[in-house]
Amino acid sequence: MTDPTLESIRAREAAHFLPVVNRLPVAITQGAGSRVRDVAGREYVDLTAGWGVTAIGHCHPALVEAIADQAGRLMQTTNLFYTLPQLDLIEKLDAITPASLTRSFLVSSGAEAVEGALKLAHRAGGRRQFVSTHGSFHGRTLGGLSVIGQAKHRERYAAMLPEQEFVPYGDLDAAVSAVGEQTAAIIVEPLQGEGGVNVPPPGYLAGLRELCDRSGALLIADEIQTGIGRTGRWLAVDHDGVCPDILTLGKGLGGGFPIAAFLCTENVSKTVQPGDHGGTYAGNPLGAAAANAVLRVIEEEGLVERAASLGEKIRARLEAFAAAHPDCVESVRGRGLLLALVLRDEDNAASIPTRALEQGVLVNVTAGRVVRLFPALNIPEDDLWPALDTVFQLALG
Ligand SMILES: Cc1ncc(COP(=O)(O)O)c(C=O)c1O
Repeated sequence: MTDPTLESIRAREAAHFLPVVNRLPVAITQGAGSRVRDVAGREYVDLTAGWGVTAIGHCHPALVEAIADQAGRLMQTTNLFYTLPQLDLIEKLDAITPASLTRSFLVSSGAEAVEGALKLAHRAGGRRQFVSTHGSFHGRTLGGLSVIGQAKHRERYAAMLPEQEFVPYGDLDAAVSAVGEQTAAIIVEPLQGEGGVNVPPPGYLAGLRELCDRSGALLIADEIQTGIGRTGRWLAVDHDGVCPDILTLGKGLGGGFPIAAFLCTENVSKTVQPGDHGGTYAGNPLGAAAANAVLRVIEEEGLVERAASLGEKIRARLEAFAAAHPDCVESVRGRGLLLALVLRDEDNAASIPTRALEQGVLVNVTAGRVVRLFPALNIPEDDLWPALDTVFQLALG
């Protein structure tokens, strides 16, 4: 058999892959740190961290070892049994999240965590209405879609979705008007990721917290993209000292292994009972062992602090570039290692991910013309700066 090539892989896949995704023309076979390699042996610097997932880099040796070790002991049992990896993880999640979030449940993907959060909010008060924000992203299951603030995702399935309320992100008055007696919860990303790296104005999250306290609605913080150190604190809500009633985590939690979680307060947890939720892979020991390793590496290597300090350095370079090229760059935004260069020209922005491949860089553009930078929290500076220079060069057209 001849070695696979991009062309042979494409040809084989064309007959079998459900075409719901437009692929980029690269077949990735390996990853190490912030670099990945394709089937032809070409290397790329990954400024997307596998979509915000490989927080400690691709195939960190400690993560690989933890997964291999756990795989040799126990990969799966049902959630009817206690397991130590799960116990270690839920204790750790309690420790790294606000004190009031004491209870957690482990699932396999961000969308599942959002489903759990919505169900929990409904169980807690019996209410059925959710308030979400324009531009938000909460996953592609029917529950997640019902609260996604992006028409392109929701409209195709609108006939199957309950109608929810959507308000402009960052607009507290609009949220006040939308919340009513039937509002189970406000669901919000403390910093919108897919929607264009949107940072809310100061006081917005605290205002939502107060609004929830007044109205009896719960506050769900969806930190699937922003949690686990990404913004320079363990959680993005930590910047504002706001404690949600329910929190979702995913992506960076498993460092590449599919695991996510939803957490809640003692008060919310008192409203559920056995049978309210579950899942074959809920609490899966392999995923929990992976997440335990990720959290250990983040602590041992000081990666939350690094996300904050390196984020500042990158931001300074982005701002200098924006100042030097006001015709090309509209603004710079983000926090920690979730940053964006907002370009003026949408066509140019749209071409960047493909052109970047030719220069050996993986970079994403979201919300039309927002070049999103969300590399691994431990990306070596030797990889980062040349890749960023490539992005600058491509941004200029
Ligand atoms: C804020 C947020 N919530 C939910 C999700 C859905 O997570 P998953 O793709 O793991 O289902 C995402 C994914 O990008 C996200 O960014």
